[in-house]
Amino acid sequence: MIVGVVKEIKPHEYRVGMIPSGAAALTLAGHKVIVEKDAGAGSGFLDSDYVKAGAKIVDRTADVWAQAEMVIKVKEPQPAEIKMLRRDQVLFTYFHFAADRSLTEGVIKSGSVAIAYETVRDKRGTLPLLTPMSEVAGKMSVQEGAKYLERPMMGRGILLGGVPGVEPATVLILGGGVVGTNAAKVAAGLGAHVILMDVSLDRLRYLSDVMPANVTPLFSDPSLIDYHIREADLVIGAVLIPGARCPVLITRDHLKIMKPGSVIVDVGVDQGGCCETIKPTTHDNPTSSSMMLSITASPTCRALSAAPVLSP
Ligand SMILES: NC(=O)c1ccc[n+]([C@@H]2O[C@H](COP(=O)([O-])OP(=O)(O)OC[C@H]3O[C@@H](n4cnc5c(N)ncnc54)[C@H](O)[C@@H]3O)[C@@H](O)[C@H]2O)c1
Repeated sequence: MIVGVVKEIKPHEYRVGMIPSGAAALTLAGHKVIVEKDAGAGSGFLDSDYVKAGAKIVDRTADVWAQAEMVIKVKEPQPAEIKMLRRDQVLFTYFHFAADRSLTEGVIKSGSVAIAYETVRDKRGTLPLLTPMSEVAGKMSVQEGAKYLERPMMGRGILLGGVPGVEPATVLILGGGVVGTNAAKVAAGLGAHVILMDVSLDRLRYLSDVMPANVTPLFSDPSLIDYHIREADLVIGAVLIPGARCPVLITRDHLKIMKPGSVIVDVGVDQGGCCETIKPTTHDNPTSSSMMLSITASPTCRALSAAPVLSP
């Protein structure tokens, strides 16, 4: 098979779909790997690294799309890329179709075979290609949230862990899966008071066993969200219904009862987010009127999109 790797074109996306060792493994297995010039540069991989791995460097992105039987990417195809998709071609990348109708219709129209990383399951039924991104995004959500709680960022001007004589911040995390537990570990480690909500009782039992004392696992129920969101300084959206849009848990009315300067980081933005007013934003325009952020994770922790999605 001819496997193509293109340079990501979404603004501030620095990742690459395949690192040189992946190219080496495919070449060893008898496939031909073609890589767009500088595709790995943003992640620190040189064209010469791919050549050493047996890949061929191609100057123009259009030539990679034209020659490859399967294209490997990171982000969902952008409009210019959808135009180059072919009926007999496989595209393997993160798609998050549930949140983007025009993307879904464009890919259906192309007739190509779309394999979404985020829906690939292993024998145990877990999501091995989503999990690493969730680990990164969960940790970064707290890091970014803490930044936007600073006063110059229009936040409440508080530290997550407080200081002697000043109480710690309250962090409310909706969803106790991979994102939620990673966020909880970071927030708890900084000394915050953490409320971690999930709808799975089995998951809550597990979280009760493994989380530190400053994390309180609670059942996710609209009335409990309503109660705790009032006292939250930072809210992290970390909900997933695999393959579907996230349920709306934070309504427009909740925004009115939240503390001024509090922050929402909705990591599930790629699946439509759990906030009623969510809208995806960009690295170039990461915050707007106030307090909601959407996060894009990078495997190297260098590329983060923290963007506002609040429109009360
Ligand atoms: N923006 C990014 O870069 C990025 C990266 C990774 C994951 N994500 C997104 O983050 C979200 C979480 O991913 P994950 O890997 O942690 O998923 P996960 O499956 O590990 O965890 C999701 C959790 O949400 C819980 N849940 C479902 N409905 C709920 C509800 N009503 N209230 C509270 N909890 C509920 C589930 O029981 C589950 O424990 C997903 O939407 C995913 O697409 C975004």
